[in-house]
Amino acid sequence: FPETVVAPSLLAADFANLAEASRSVADDIDWLHVDVMDNHFVPNLTLGPPVVSSLKAAVDIPLDCHLMIENPDKWAPGYAELGAYNVSFHAEAADKPVDLARNLRAAGTKAGLAIDRDTDIEPYLDILPEFDTLLIMTIKAGFGGQSFMPELLAKVRTARNSIRSGHLNVRIEVDGGISASTIEAAAEAGADAFVAGTAVFGAEDPAQACRKLRSLADG
Ligand code: DX5
Ligand code: ZN
Repeated sequence: FPETVVAPSLLAADFANLAEASRSVADDIDWLHVDVMDNHFVPNLTLGPPVVSSLKAAVDIPLDCHLMIENPDKWAPGYAELGAYNVSFHAEAADKPVDLARNLRAAGTKAGLAIDRDTDIEPYLDILPEFDTLLIMTIKAGFGGQSFMPELLAKVRTARNSIRSGHLNVRIEVDGGISASTIEAAAEAGADAFVAGTAVFGAEDPAQACRKLRSLADG
């Protein structure tokens, strides 16, 4: 994958036409971000394994599954088995994050640790070598269309320093309020994977929006 990963979030797409929305941006993206919400970990409900399975069959784009669910220890490996490229689960929800990361990798997928708005990053720096991606929320998880919170980039800076000094191979993904007006600050803080829902699927030309985001992130 290139230095910069652009990952549009299907949360902002038409749920009756997910494959079509995915194909409309396929040439200009690296991963497709799929937000799984269970109405328990967050007060919103989206989709689960059957839809991920159908997407996997319908489009040839790596699926980046962001699980905003309780008990990921039990449910996350199922997404690996469906062929997700990366499976991120929330630190706040996992009982044994290291064991789960190892299970995901053993199932053939990349493992991601997601950190919500109110969670500090420091307690998790030690376990970063167990992960391929670190998803730092730049809003409170649960809904698209919220305003980017620049103060949360402090966590990105902390994580970037730790990854650099440990020579780790971990991507830092930012999620929430990423747009043409916020992506440069996130990239400057050390993010190298960018999720954008509203800024892509709310745009008149989603593919063009992806190209714009990439060029801004690349500086
Ligand atoms: C929200 C999801 C995000 C969401 C971002 O909890 O994790 O991926 O789609 O939407 P925007 O880009 O509109 O903030
Ligand atoms: Zn997400």
